[in-house]
Amino acid sequence: MAIEIRETTRDQTRADLRIALEACAVRKIFRPARGLGAGGVAVRAVDDVSLTVRRGEIYGLLGANGSGKSTLIRVFSTLLTADAGEVRIFGYDIVRDELAVKRLINRVSVEASFFKKLSAMENLIYAGRLYGVAPDEARPKIREILRRLGIDPRRVSEPLEKLSRGMQQKIAIARAFLTSPMLLLLDEPTTGLDIRSKREVQTFVRDLRDEHDATILLTTHDLDEAARLADRIGILHQGRLVAEGSASELCARHGTGSLEEVFMTVTGRRLDESDDTGGGAGTE
Ligand SMILES: Nc1ncnc2c1ncn2[C@@H]1O[C@H](COP(=O)(O)OP(=O)(O)O)[C@@H](O)[C@H]1O
Ligand SMILES: [Mg+2]
Repeated sequence: MAIEIRETTRDQTRADLRIALEACAVRKIFRPARGLGAGGVAVRAVDDVSLTVRRGEIYGLLGANGSGKSTLIRVFSTLLTADAGEVRIFGYDIVRDELAVKRLINRVSVEASFFKKLSAMENLIYAGRLYGVAPDEARPKIREILRRLGIDPRRVSEPLEKLSRGMQQKIAIARAFLTSPMLLLLDEPTTGLDIRSKREVQTFVRDLRDEHDATILLTTHDLDEAARLADRIGILHQGRLVAEGSASELCARHGTGSLEEVFMTVTGRRLDESDDTGGGAGTE
């Protein structure tokens, strides 16, 4: 059940519907609050990033901690306003057409919030209601999604606080998918999960793309996940997009057989080193 895209404006008619997201020279700078004393520096969390996500694609933003992944996702999902640049989602400008954009996207972050005393089913039905999905319509859809996520049907009625973090994360993705978003923004969907849950979430993400005409933009600091899941990978380093391509294109371009080496070459450091420490680049 995909949301229909209405071609209402002239702009929209001209939009290329094969492009899910187009970002052009996006910049976000966090400035220290005034009056809190000296010592704060402005951080260029996202620095002149341009990228295109094609419809039906799984695009992986790969970067170390502090490289700007979440900031970029929050800009794309209209939670944060960029200082410069433009972003279009299925042709809609995220500032001028914010409401249309909000109908087309959904975002899941690692710190997804739930009513912990309520069950998975209750949380999802509640979320469905917020988006105008009636409980009777939502229930079978929820059961199917949870089944595909490998969640034991007996556990869907247990309070969420009794479930593992992995399970809760899967339920967060299921919740975002209830609205049938055209573009799903997943911020580190598998961080903190054990290998098995990781694989289940990855399979689920691929199924969403394959079977539901969904486009997925996800962030990760897991090289293996990027290589395994993403059709194209953008490497973020200190707020800048320093490389882009499929895993095999990136490897070929840098004359190496591993994404890890590509990462080291283009960023000068290992993925498990934070972008927040040392160097001082990324600040202004
Ligand atoms: N609300 C904020 N205020 C100030 N600095 C921030 C804020 N959010 C993120 N940052 C800084 O911006 C940079 C990028 O952060 P973030 O986008 O969270 O990176 P990632 O998701 O890749 O770990 C980091 O240096 C981080 O400390
Ligand atoms: Mg983050």
